[in-house]
Formats: sequence, structure tokens, C-alpha cells
Amino acid sequence: MCGIVGYTGHRQAYPVILKGLKRLEYRGYDSSGVALLHNQNLQVHKKKGKVADLEETLIGKNLEAQIGIGHTRWATHGEPSDRNAHPHLSSGGEIAMIHNGIIENYALIKQELVNKGYSFTSDTDTEVLLNFIEDIKKNNECSLEDAVRIALKRVTGAYCILLIEQSNPDTIIAARKGSPLVIGIGKGEHFLASDASPIIEYTKEVVYVNDYELAIVKPDELILKNLGNEKITPFITKLDMELAAIEKGGYEHFMLKEIFEQPNTIFDCLRGRLDAKEGMIRMSGVDLNIEAINKANRIMIVACGTSWHAGLVAEYIIEELCRIPVEVEYASEFRYRNPIIHPGDIIIAISQSGETADTLVALEKAKEKGAFIFGVVNAVGSSIARISNAGAYTHAGPEIGVASTKAFTGQLAVLMMVALNIAINKGTITQERYKELLVELEAVPEKAQAILKNANELKVIAEKYKDAHDFLFLGRGYNFPIALEGALKLKEISYIHAEGYPAAEMKHGPIALVDENLPVVFIATQDVYHEKIVSNMQEIKARKGKIISIITEGDKTSPTLSDDCFSIPPADEIIAPILSVIPLQLLSYYVGIAKGTDVDKPRNLAKSVTVE
Ligand code: AGP
Ligand code: GLU
Repeated sequence: MCGIVGYTGHRQAYPVILKGLKRLEYRGYDSSGVALLHNQNLQVHKKKGKVADLEETLIGKNLEAQIGIGHTRWATHGEPSDRNAHPHLSSGGEIAMIHNGIIENYALIKQELVNKGYSFTSDTDTEVLLNFIEDIKKNNECSLEDAVRIALKRVTGAYCILLIEQSNPDTIIAARKGSPLVIGIGKGEHFLASDASPIIEYTKEVVYVNDYELAIVKPDELILKNLGNEKITPFITKLDMELAAIEKGGYEHFMLKEIFEQPNTIFDCLRGRLDAKEGMIRMSGVDLNIEAINKANRIMIVACGTSWHAGLVAEYIIEELCRIPVEVEYASEFRYRNPIIHPGDIIIAISQSGETADTLVALEKAKEKGAFIFGVVNAVGSSIARISNAGAYTHAGPEIGVASTKAFTGQLAVLMMVALNIAINKGTITQERYKELLVELEAVPEKAQAILKNANELKVIAEKYKDAHDFLFLGRGYNFPIALEGALKLKEISYIHAEGYPAAEMKHGPIALVDENLPVVFIATQDVYHEKIVSNMQEIKARKGKIISIITEGDKTSPTLSDDCFSIPPADEIIAPILSVIPLQLLSYYVGIAKGTDVDKPRNLAKSVTVE
């Protein structure tokens, strides 16, 4: 995890780095720090807490430098503290380094260094790698670049590292494996960062560095090499992103902005792909590979967190519409067991960031065994997008709030189109039903807008229940994964314990929790299970639980059983999850606000989990 920024050029480095760190703070916010180099003077400043805390301690300091590196941390090795914050300085004080990732064999290397007389000022794996590099440089009397290359050959784990050294006034050495790195190319300047957000206001020309590549970055020169010291021609891409997309645009929080963007982001996701009038879906990722997909005996979906919930919805939809068996796997489990994968199996990888380490490694493993990877990814050019054989972007734009909202509805929209596209090709759906669902899907942005108009109703409900200690979220069928997602959102944002369950499963255990203090959220929109879910409401009511229900407009029964209701426009049950999740996102947001939590950066979390 964590965000890293580097700059070398003609500007003052500190303001560029500081602004970049603020943009990357969603990746981690345990501590932050900068290293600046000017006239052979290498100064390092670091501070526990958010980037704003670092900024405050540096007011009035002379931070003159045209080269520097900065880090915002999500701790893996050692508690969040000033001492463990990056950048770290090498034992001799001449090299500063920042690191995103985990050095798995750090303990072994540390022991070797301790035996040689090294001592350590932090508990991090990062400082071990840095002193290892310093030691190699000293013993081999080689350049920093060579020392990094030699060290990385012995390292296992994941890293993106940036280093600067006292004796080299304008060069940043960078390398990556498993953690992202983008280099922005300016005129007489270069920008380095974990993603493009710190770069776009300066340049749109970027190079995505690949695993096992090392970059030597000077103001006027970018040299890319592999670990075998052979030069690689940098592949320059143009960023398709505007600055406004990563700013709050008048909203109090990114999360709220992103929830309210959904009518547009879903529209953007459907645009150019779905044409209800013509009765067709065009998705090149599916169209070009339709033979392989039609031949597949099964589909496996691999993802984490919210993306995994999108996978569960997809399981219901693909099995229903395409009649292909689907298994949904937590990437972190899938990668460590010995899954049975046959050549030709289709793996759908779902990820907002496209950098989630567990998902990425699971896919690498599956690919080795001959699986065909179809990526459903939001971050364009990310690692998962690049290792996929084919795919479809969700086009939700940059998602900055740590809790995923618009990326989730984008994932659902893409997965629904994929399922419909396969179904019509396989002939497992009638033309009539296909067209009906296209019309339904096309109407989603407008219906989402209608839901958002009534957001204030959820604010009132949130105020009422904000002091509850636990919440239960219940749903059936297509809305069961939405119950899981509702519970996850509430946990993340408000720190209230919440569980999601299939509504009928409740009586097999969780019902024991029900008393007059337990709010139970029912996702009870109109579908074939509606009568059943109404019976589940009765069961909660009989035990004095508090019922909050998300219902379809016009439902007369559910309100009589509920303490509070929120209505959404009628929608086909297959399409409904993409709408029913929106009130749950708003509910968690408003509960978080009422409790005073940091909704954009909830404690202990990070946006992009690039460590195991
Ligand atoms: C969502 O609100 C979470 N913060 C988290 O569960 C997230 O969905 C998960 O880490 C997967 O991330 P990805 O979609 O970027 O792969
Ligand atoms: N493993 C390093 C640490 O604990 C880096 C973690 C990160 O990626 O932020 O400091």
C-alpha cells in the first residue's frame, strides 16, 4: 500500500511532492515524509499522521530543492510512528529511500546486516532493504544503480522503491515489482508517482513502469532497464483524465461526490456499448473472444472486498442468463490453495484499482495454468488491466474515497452487459427478454438520479440509528450480495459492527442477536422473493427488532412492518441491485458523518491494497 511521489526538474520539489502526497493519501495515511536534496544537503522530514500534519511541522522551514521524494504510509512492518515513517536514511546517511510493498525475506537479510554491525532505527522492512543496498554499494564500490540491481535480485516480495543520494544532485533511481509506478514526462522535468493523479496537472505523457524494471530518472533523461542491465525503450502513453475528475468539485467529501456521480458514471459505462433501440450490445472484449467464452465449461470470478460482492451479483446473473456455472473466489484464498483450472476456463477479474496484490497474484497463477483472463477494471492502464487477455473498463473515473461506490455500480453495469452479450450469443435468452433487459439497463442512470434526489431521507434515518452498536443487513437472490455490500460500507465508514446475510439464513443463527436495539436493514425490492422477505420482516418484528427497508415505490406491505422505509423506482429484479445499493451507500455515508468519522479515509484502511 502507500503512496509515493518523486520529482526532479526545474521547479521547487517540495510543493509538487506535497500536493502529490495529498492526492495519494487515499492509499495510506499512517504517516508521511519527504526527502529533499539541495547542494549535497539531504534533508529528511517525517511525521506520524496525515500529510497535513507533516505540512504543519514544515511551515517556515527552508525546503529549497529541485529534487525530492515523498511517501504516505500504510504500515505493514512496525506501528505508525515518526520513527517508522518513510523516507528512511541509510546507515551512512547518504541515501534516502521510500518504499511501497513488503520485503518478505527482510528478516534474513536483517540478520546478515546485524552480523556485519548494522543497527536499525525503525522496525520496517524498508530500512533493511536500504541498508542492504548501501552495504552492496560499499563492498562492490559500485554506483547506486548497480547496487539496487544486485540487491533486488536477492529480494522476495513486492516493492516500488525510489532512492536519491547525496552525491548525485539530480537523479532518482526507481524500481518496481508488484507495486505500481508511473513516470510523467515533462519538459526538463520528470514526475514519479504510484498513480497518475499527482502528475496530470503537469503533463499527460506518462510511462507505466513494469515489474522487474529499473528507471534512472534525471530532469532531461529517462532511462529504463531490466534487472539484467539491458536498456528498454520506454512506452509513452497519453493520460485520458482531467484534473477536475480528481478534485472534490464542491462536495464536502469525495465519497459523497462519487455517490452523486453515479448517474453519469453508469451512463458513461453504458455509452457506446449498449443500444436498446437497435437491440444490441457492443463490447469488443467479449465480441472478439466470443468463441472462447462460448466454449468455456465454467467461469471463475476472482476479486476482493466490494469487487467480490459485484462478482457475487454476477454469479446469479450469469448462471440465470447464460447457463454457465460460475464460482466466485476471494483472490486471497484462491492464490494460496491449489485451484483446479483447466485451459480454456474463463476467469473474470474484478478490481477498481487494478493493483490489488491478492487479485493480481491469483491471476498470474491462473494465467500460468492456461486460463483466459477477462478484466473488469476501473483504473486504465493498471497492472490487472495489463495482464488480462481481454476485458472491459468500468469507466467510472478516478475513485478517491476509500469506500468504493461508483466503481461498484460501474462493475455491475459492465457485468450485466457481459452476461447479456454472452446470453444472446449462446442463445440462452430470448430476443424479447434480451431487449427488455437492455431497456431496463438503459434506464438505470435516470432512476439513480431519482434515488439521489431523496438522499435527505437517508440522512434523517442515519441520525436516528447512528448510536446502534450493531446492524444486520438482509437480502435475498440478486439482492443478497447487496446486503453484504451494505454491511461492508457501514463497517468501513462508521466503525459500527454490521453483518450481511441472506434473509432466509437469518433464522439459522443471527436471529439470536435480534432485540429492540438492533436495526435490521432489509433490501426488499419487488422480485420473486418479495413475499418471502416480507415473512422475514415479520420474524424480526415479532422480536422487536427495528426495521429499515429499501423497497420499490408503490409497495404497500413493507411500510406497515418497517420503522423506516426508503423507496426506489421499480426495476427488473436482475437490474435492481445496481439501484438498491445506492441508498445503502448514502446511509453509511450519513451515519459516518453523524458519528464524525473521517469518511474519505477511514481508520486502518487504504484504497488500494497492494500488499498481501
Ligand atoms: C471497498 O469499499 C473496499 N475499500 C475494499 O473492499 C475494496 O473493494 C477491495 O480492497 C478491492 O479493491 P479493488 O477493487 O481495487 O481490487
Ligand atoms: N513495508 C513498508 C512499511 O511498513 C511499506 C508499507 C507501504 O507500502 O506503505 O513501512
